[in-house]
Amino acid sequence: MLDGVPTLSCITLVHTVDGRDVTTIEGLRDHPLVHAFVRTDAVQCGFCTPGQIVSAAALVAANPAPSKDEIRHAMSGNLCRCGTYPKIEEAIGTWQQ
Ligand code: FES
Repeated sequence: MLDGVPTLSCITLVHTVDGRDVTTIEGLRDHPLVHAFVRTDAVQCGFCTPGQIVSAAALVAANPAPSKDEIRHAMSGNLCRCGTYPKIEEAIGTWQQ
């Protein structure tokens, strides 16, 4: 995330982030979403998980109790080849438990 906004790191030039707030998955290790992903078994191969959690963290920061449609809209740019979308939705929908 750059300044709290999910950002595609692979197409972001490093000089454009100078002086901005950068949050990576490592910065979210204590976020309750991480535990929610584990609790709901939302991780399969784990390839997409860092991006899923970073995007989800931005969503719940702006909207702590998103609806299913809001979750689907916010997470639509994150692809999971393992197809764990229902579990990811469950994790985001229950992250505060
Ligand atoms: S858990 Fe494998 S790509 Fe998402």
